[in-house]
Amino acid sequence: MNIEEIKKDFPIFKNTNITYLDNGATTQKPIQVINAINEFYEKYNANPHRGAYGLSIEATKYYENTRAKVAKFINAKHTEEIIFSKNATESLNLLAYSYGMDNLKKDEEIVLSIMEHHSNLVPWQKVAKTTGAKLNYMYINDKFEISNEEIEEKITKKTKIVGITHISNVLGTINDVKKIIKYAHKMGAIVIVDASQSIPHEKIDVQDLDADFLIFSGHKMLAPLGIGVLYGKRELLNKMTPFLMGGDMIEYVYEQDTTFAPLPNKFEAGTQNVEGVIGLGAAIDYIEQLGYDTIQQIEKEVVDYAIDELTKLDYLELYITPNRKNHSSVISFNIKGIHPHDVASILDSNGVCVRSGNHCAQPLMRYLGIDSTCRASFYFYNTKEDVDKLIEALNKAYNMFKKYINI
Ligand code: ALA
Repeated sequence: MNIEEIKKDFPIFKNTNITYLDNGATTQKPIQVINAINEFYEKYNANPHRGAYGLSIEATKYYENTRAKVAKFINAKHTEEIIFSKNATESLNLLAYSYGMDNLKKDEEIVLSIMEHHSNLVPWQKVAKTTGAKLNYMYINDKFEISNEEIEEKITKKTKIVGITHISNVLGTINDVKKIIKYAHKMGAIVIVDASQSIPHEKIDVQDLDADFLIFSGHKMLAPLGIGVLYGKRELLNKMTPFLMGGDMIEYVYEQDTTFAPLPNKFEAGTQNVEGVIGLGAAIDYIEQLGYDTIQQIEKEVVDYAIDELTKLDYLELYITPNRKNHSSVISFNIKGIHPHDVASILDSNGVCVRSGNHCAQPLMRYLGIDSTCRASFYFYNTKEDVDKLIEALNKAYNMFKKYINI
């Protein structure tokens, strides 16, 4: 399928004239996902698991079929290992409260990477403060990577939980999570993988990784906003107490006590985002039909071109590893001496959408000695022409600001 054909699937590109390079924040949605949501509301909208009537049973069937689809998509062993949440952040909070609070003791250790998104960092600060556990970090080297020595120094026999992002949302570094998991297991720790920035771009196999928990958001992989996934090994999820209490996660409720439903309902309190789940199912169908091989092939060509062109701009500071095989489709940069918000707003006035700021990764920014960056993040519908527009807009921004840089 050629790129022009692919772009036609995305109504936003017909309705606007933007160069969209903020896919790390959220991707655009193909018509197939939008249609699946419309069809749900037009043909089988009802509250799953709540009605004995046909429509509710049908809604339940679509909801549960999508759970099975997600399980197959990430090669989970059991369908009930898939829990639907609001987003990656909620999945991580669930783990912090339901696993972290109950399983950590004073002086035991939680190890995170310094490149974690706040969502996989702030909840663990709360757990550490409440339980008396220690929060330690694996830092990056000058190639923006975590070295073997760092992994082996920080993950110790005292470590009980390791939290690691598969791909940094700021640097685009692809972490060798399989290696980290293997080492953490040897030390007796469980590992939580944040796959939010990787699952849009590469095949995730939770059994091959041997991840204990893995989380992601739907909206960064073509699905609607407001739907997330938590995968957990069944034996771990079974031992955990629920995070949110209320409708449909119960078995029996007495005046003073409650027993909980079995997995996965135990972790899905209240009416769920059913349209989000249906949209996620359609997004998975789209990705599987296109294929990760095609996605990677398109992205590699465009991202390589972007790196080559951006490297030529001597006024630009790039924050990416020189090992291209360890780099995904996120490129952070700064025009030396100019605030990234100013740069992003000039890019916007030229129709180019990038994110600017600290990208919810303040400890990483502090470690790098900067406040913020601009970030261009690519997906399979981006083209070399998009890169050219970015370069052109950057040159305009530089020309506009350069007189202030030397002051
Ligand atoms: N976590 C998302 C990002 O990196 C929102 O932009």
